[in-house]
Amino acid sequence: PELVPYYYEGSNGKRVMRTEANGPRMIRSSGDRYLLPSIRSHFPLWNTITEGDSIMLITFEGIDGCGKSSQAKLTADRLNDQGIECLLVREPGGSELSEQIRSVVLNTHHEAPMSHAAELLLFAASRAQLVEEVIEPALRRNAVVICDRFTDSTIAYQGYGRGLPLAYIRTINDLATGGLVPDITLLIDVPIELAIRRRKGMGDDRMESESRLFFSHVMQGYMALAQKHPDRIHVIDG
Ligand code: TYD
Repeated sequence: PELVPYYYEGSNGKRVMRTEANGPRMIRSSGDRYLLPSIRSHFPLWNTITEGDSIMLITFEGIDGCGKSSQAKLTADRLNDQGIECLLVREPGGSELSEQIRSVVLNTHHEAPMSHAAELLLFAASRAQLVEEVIEPALRRNAVVICDRFTDSTIAYQGYGRGLPLAYIRTINDLATGGLVPDITLLIDVPIELAIRRRKGMGDDRMESESRLFFSHVMQGYMALAQKHPDRIHVIDG
């Protein structure tokens, strides 16, 4: 089979290139799921997972500065230490094309303000490429994928933050992911003031430059999602 290169962010934070046999797209069934009994013992976040869960796609969510990227990396490190193949990717980004889209969508130096629809479609484009190029092949070989942000970010930021219709966003998310839903989502909850304080001096990108009000809408979106999907989304005190 033809080998196609792809990129992911390794648990050491460096971009790693791999090759993957270009097989047919596989539809996931619950029989494909990979049981991880060993991951919860030492790491506090895993206390929220009950015995017998099968986990392949883990996503981390929260407002900027909540600490989710550190938690995602810690989790990936722990799984890798235990010999479980685990990919850590971030959104937007995680593949060569998706990283290019990331630099466009987060760049603060555009001449005109970015339209909300353009912003939504750029995040979706990045995700579509990441899912097809990196996430699906990894799940196909039973690796665990940890994604720093995924579809819930788009509902929270573009839906509740920007006010775009949720029905569109769900459809676009479905198109981008082929219907892939995380097995578990860890939503790191911190007060907005604390998140802003943690981000101080880090140089805000286009989204991070938004107002406090914007982030309170985003947080409302996350909490609405957590209420709607209590089995999947676990709110973690960050
Ligand atoms: P992130 O990588 O978490 O930011 P940082 O590198 O500063 O930790 O996320 C990038 C930004 O993009 C963040 O402000 C959230 C935003 N975002 C959306 O608005 N919609 C989306 O669908 C995604 C994935 C991210």
